Amino acid sequence: MSIITPHTPAHWAAYYRLRYEVLRQPWQQPPGSERAPDDDAPTTTHALLLAPADTTQAIGVGRLHSSGPGQGQLRFMAVAPAWQGHGVGQQLLAHLEASARQQQLHEIVLHARAEAVPFYERAGYAVVAPSHMLFGRIPHFLMRRELVGDNTEAP
Ligand SMILES: CC(C)(COP(=O)(O)OP(=O)(O)OC[C@H]1O[C@@H](n2cnc3c(N)ncnc32)[C@H](O)[C@@H]1OP(=O)(O)O)[C@@H](O)C(=O)NCCC(=O)NCCS
Repeated sequence: MSIITPHTPAHWAAYYRLRYEVLRQPWQQPPGSERAPDDDAPTTTHALLLAPADTTQAIGVGRLHSSGPGQGQLRFMAVAPAWQGHGVGQQLLAHLEASARQQQLHEIVLHARAEAVPFYERAGYAVVAPSHMLFGRIPHFLMRRELVGDNTEAP
């Protein structure tokens, strides 16, 4: 299974559908709330993993955007429930980190849902500080990973 940059209408439909189903629908958010104004920016990198048996379905998505000098931010990481815990998230992370290195970025930050903090810690990110509360009930934590001089996979 290989990660691609969505580039057809079918890819984008699958990409946004999974974002919505994993990150918005469970909290009764309206369709469209899964999209961000800078999704179309040239400095935003999208990663999509399609289901091997049905390429109209996404099993994992994520994105990276430039968030300051030398800094990238990860957002909208989501893995389909049936595929969680099988390495898909880790694969997406490695792909987006490789993209960040190609863009000469030296650090990545993200706001992790509390439940996802151990996933990012496992991948070498550290909590910097508590951040916002999403939808009034999902605590988030600002996390960061330095990329300079580190071309290895997380331990
Ligand atoms: C968080 C998420 C992206 C992780 O993706 P995933 O495919 O399930 O994770 P992986 O299978 O690649 O896990 C990689 C490692 O992290 C660990 N891990 C993953 N999620 C974890 C969790 N919630 N708690 C503790 N460890 C976790 C795995 O056990 C694995 O460790 P190992 O290499 O020692 O076996 C995915 O579970 C998800 O979409 N969750 C719901 C939405 C969400 O929270 N998105 C993130 C928003 S910030």
